[in-house]
Amino acid sequence: MSAPPEVVERAAALRSELHHHNYRYYVLDDPEITDAAYDRLFRELQALEQRYPQLRTPDSPTQRVGAQPGERFAEARHRVPMLSLGNARDDGAVRDFDRRIRKDLDADVVTYVAEPKLDGLAISLLYEDGVLVRGATRGDGSIGEDVTAQVRTIGAVPLRLRGAGWPRLLEVRGEVYLPLAAFERLKQHMLASGHAPFKNPRNAAAGSLRQLDPAVTAARPLTMFCYGFGAVEGGDLGPTQSGALAALRDWGLRVSPESRVVTGADGCIDYHRSIGARRDGLDYEIDGVVFKVDDLQAQRALGFRARDPVWAIAYKYPAREEQTIVRSVEFQVGRTGAVTPVARLAPVDVAGVTVANATLHNIDEVHRKDVRAGDTVIVRRAGDVIPEVVAVVDALRPPDTEPVRLPAQCPVCGADVIRAEGEAVARCSGGLTCAAQRRSALKHFVSRRAMDIDGLGDKLIEQLVEQGMVRDPADLYALTVEDYAGLERMAQKSAQNLVQALARSRRTTLSRLIYALGIREVGEATAQALAAHFRDLKPLMTADLDTFIVDVPGIEGVGEKTATALLAWLQQHPDAGPGEQPLADWLAGLGIRGLRPPAAARIAERWPDLAALRRAQVADFLGGKRSRIEGVGPVVAAHIVSFFAQPHNRAVIDKLLDPGIGGITWPAPPAAEGVGADRPLAGKTVVITGTLSRPRDAVKAQLERLGAKVTGSVSTKTHYLLAGADAGAKRAKAASLGVKILDEEDLTALTQGAYAPDAGDV
Ligand code: IVH
Repeated sequence: MSAPPEVVERAAALRSELHHHNYRYYVLDDPEITDAAYDRLFRELQALEQRYPQLRTPDSPTQRVGAQPGERFAEARHRVPMLSLGNARDDGAVRDFDRRIRKDLDADVVTYVAEPKLDGLAISLLYEDGVLVRGATRGDGSIGEDVTAQVRTIGAVPLRLRGAGWPRLLEVRGEVYLPLAAFERLKQHMLASGHAPFKNPRNAAAGSLRQLDPAVTAARPLTMFCYGFGAVEGGDLGPTQSGALAALRDWGLRVSPESRVVTGADGCIDYHRSIGARRDGLDYEIDGVVFKVDDLQAQRALGFRARDPVWAIAYKYPAREEQTIVRSVEFQVGRTGAVTPVARLAPVDVAGVTVANATLHNIDEVHRKDVRAGDTVIVRRAGDVIPEVVAVVDALRPPDTEPVRLPAQCPVCGADVIRAEGEAVARCSGGLTCAAQRRSALKHFVSRRAMDIDGLGDKLIEQLVEQGMVRDPADLYALTVEDYAGLERMAQKSAQNLVQALARSRRTTLSRLIYALGIREVGEATAQALAAHFRDLKPLMTADLDTFIVDVPGIEGVGEKTATALLAWLQQHPDAGPGEQPLADWLAGLGIRGLRPPAAARIAERWPDLAALRRAQVADFLGGKRSRIEGVGPVVAAHIVSFFAQPHNRAVIDKLLDPGIGGITWPAPPAAEGVGADRPLAGKTVVITGTLSRPRDAVKAQLERLGAKVTGSVSTKTHYLLAGADAGAKRAKAASLGVKILDEEDLTALTQGAYAPDAGDV
């Protein structure tokens, strides 16, 4: 099908518009439109290309990621070899370099292009008629690896050069790198997902680019600075290096904004100093600066010595990695309770900064690197990031070292250290009292959406904690106007106001109080759900994991496909029903593929009435862990349970509720009304009988949470009998009165909203 001319035109317009916005975003770092607007244009082009595949040109912005993963990289021969650079280690070496050049050129002064030497991965881009046809790594300098598909995924690499005037054939040279912030994120991500992270940004860049699957490369935010060129045919770049860089910039390639033209050795040395002073603030790793003779004819005249150009030199900065000894491994408790291993080091100078501590991230990291007290390690400091231990020098391990173990108790307050399943970070559970977390716990407690105590700013909290006047939130309520008035920047009046604000905050709501406790991962919405579910603090405090999470058995013989088909059928036939037929038989007879009679029987057993079955979800058939309360999954539940299990925390809560200290109260939740989603037994009277799998008190509490009134004997007023094993007389009486009998499984189904006992009989 050939595309109508207006479609051809539109596709071309979209391509050039997208190229433009890509350039604004990735090269200039100055987008003109929102990401969403870009996506719209992108999807429009994608749709046109899908309809008319012949419109899909290789330089189309849609074709950045598209190539299939390769088996291995093909060889790519560079037209002009990629060289390395000689090094200068001090100012004297730079002066020698400049003196030699001036002598060779017989010049009094020489100007240079100076720019940062990025620590990434050298790449050569080949453009033919302005279109990117190949990307290659440096390899041995003459032959590299063909990484075209990978390079195409880098937003800063133009698939087509902008403007005009480019040579027919052009090899562009530059450095692909991963910005430090992206490197940190990638590292955290890899750590969290149990992968060994890259050791440094250079490895991360190389590892991301040299991926046989370009989709992996595309997912890493690589970028590139271009600093030179190789072969140039059918055109030229002008007479100077600086002019050539300006031309590359005009053609849409990304060139370092730090590049400058400097004069003589002094200019080079000043440049080295000024970039060096800013090295820690740059968003990329550099290992030096490079000086190149600006005059291209002079470059040609000077030529090469072995593998290095005579006309260029790198002036290095001190290494970012040094070797030192681990004196001990200690655990620090952060403001949020994170328990982090830290290596205490024999102090060592790393690129101008003395390093005596290095983070080890988390206990898994410590074990993965197997860092032990006494070890010799390589430490690394990048930019403003906290120094870290990169690796242990195995050969230098002394005898009798011990592996590091996560402490069971918080080194600050002694509360249990908890590590939730699947989480890399271990935490102190002494939230309300742990000195390390005290400030942040208090700030949170008084914040507007928590207890809303006006007049207790951060500065005041700092003072209260520092002077030992407040150890936990309850202490705030015990202080008097005189106590507060004695603090810095407090007067009688402001102290009075504060005490009044504290008094006002005593009357609050249950959800605010729960939120104010600062339980990990319990935000406002979760606090509200907990308050609605438990309706009081005590049942929440004594709840166990099973209260939050239920392990729902799946329906044997029903997989995802069958369940989906069944539910879809029911949805399409809202009025169908079994009539006089048993539900199981009716279900088995529906002709649902894969639904055999035994499975139909099990479904009818789980959902004895059709209305409940209609409300079921596919997941209910498959089984697994379900949360009973919105927003409370296994991890949050574990945080809640361990928080209330800490005697410290319970003691603070007791103080908060003690009428003589905190005196915090909240209005009783309104009496249950109607049948709500989480109160399916509201207004119902239930009697319990027989032997249950759990203590009867727990079952009673659960029924009450569901809205039921639990009484002792069966009468005409009884709505349901919950019957365990060996139920006797009460069961018989209930049966004779026509009282509906539930078993424990019904109760479970009920808490999940999967079973409504009275859907059919009210
Ligand atoms: S010029 C003939 N300029 O450093 C000129 N190289 O040791 C050779 N590098 O692998 C390179 N930033 O990838 C030059 N601004 C820059 C550079 C730079 C980083 C890398 C380059 C090469 C190595 C040379």
